[in-house]
Amino acid sequence: MSKTSLQYQVLKQGGPLTKVSVPYPTPGPSEICIRPKAIALNPLDWKRRDYGVMVESWPVVLGIDAAGIVDSVGESVKDVKAGDEVFSLCGLENRKGGFQEVITVPWYFVAKKPASWTFEEAASLPICYLTPAAAIVDGLHVPLPHLDPTGAGTSSLNSILVLGGSSSVGASAIQLLRLALPSTTILTTSSAQHHAHLISLGADKCFERSAQDDTSAIKAATLNGVGVDAILDPVSAAASQPSIFTAFNPTGPKVYSHVLTGQNVVVPEGVKATLVLGRQIFGAKGGMNAFPGLASLIETGKFKLPNKVEIVGTGFEGIEPGLEKNSKGVSGAKYVVSM
Ligand SMILES: NC(=O)c1ccc[n+]([C@@H]2O[C@H](COP(=O)([O-])OP(=O)(O)OC[C@H]3O[C@@H](n4cnc5c(N)ncnc54)[C@H](OP(=O)(O)O)[C@@H]3O)[C@@H](O)[C@H]2O)c1
Repeated sequence: MSKTSLQYQVLKQGGPLTKVSVPYPTPGPSEICIRPKAIALNPLDWKRRDYGVMVESWPVVLGIDAAGIVDSVGESVKDVKAGDEVFSLCGLENRKGGFQEVITVPWYFVAKKPASWTFEEAASLPICYLTPAAAIVDGLHVPLPHLDPTGAGTSSLNSILVLGGSSSVGASAIQLLRLALPSTTILTTSSAQHHAHLISLGADKCFERSAQDDTSAIKAATLNGVGVDAILDPVSAAASQPSIFTAFNPTGPKVYSHVLTGQNVVVPEGVKATLVLGRQIFGAKGGMNAFPGLASLIETGKFKLPNKVEIVGTGFEGIEPGLEKNSKGVSGAKYVVSM
């Protein structure tokens, strides 16, 4: 009998997830097969299951983030070999996602797991690092030095407001911005319990969500109280609190970079808005080095775990209850399932 592997498939919109036996995968020339030891749960997973967001046809295998052990590699793969501990982006580009026994991914989705990190910690990273990287490079037009060292010093943004800094994307954005722009004022919003953590990641000042309605305190924290040059919005905060746009310096560049979340933001005239998807970073200068570059930032202590990891279950059976918990809201944490 030929060897098989298990996938946890969503057969139709709304679920449930079902174990399906499929032929054991063999990597293509530039692909890597990974046995996950941990997978992270993301809002996109249940949005895809429940609303068919970014689903072309059913069944689908969800799951964007994983960490595990390399099972096999294609003949062109150089830096990774069977048995290595890695973390990886999964799915996207018409591939099956991370909720399976053996995941197949292209080489540039993968980085070596930092030795000091658990599989659960490493699994919490890929999409919440990739997305702010895209929002910074493509949306704010700020080069990231670990991807494009020639871009250093080319941004003239004096102040940037990161909305929802305690989201996993937001907490990564703060760190990447601080690395790229050491002297720019970085402001953020989150519930008060996360302020100390966000300052430790590089924010200059944190505000509660109410500051997104009355922006006077945010403006007062910028040089001469003029307002911010740019806003990075990973959580579509401006959809429900459009007054946030009054935080802009009226004579500044008014750059608004926001992440595709499924919510519609009405952007006022005069604001230069860009809507981003995480995977865009691969098309940016140096973007194919996004994951090896991240591993080296972690090893050198320049990038820290954005949010604490909460293990919400074990095995395939832990995924659906974990998604349920994620859909009810997360605050300053990443939910992960151990495999
Ligand atoms: N398009 C893509 O490629 C892509 C990739 C990744 C993520 N996403 C999307 O990006 C969003 C963020 O993902 P995530 O995993 O980082 O989310 P998350 O960690 O689950 O976000 C939860 C956090 O967001 C904060 N928050 C939520 N709404 C807010 C608002 N209106 N104003 C201020 N803060 C707010 C909360 O802050 P407090 O509890 O502190 O108040 C909470 O800590 C999700 O919608 C996700 O679907 C898109």
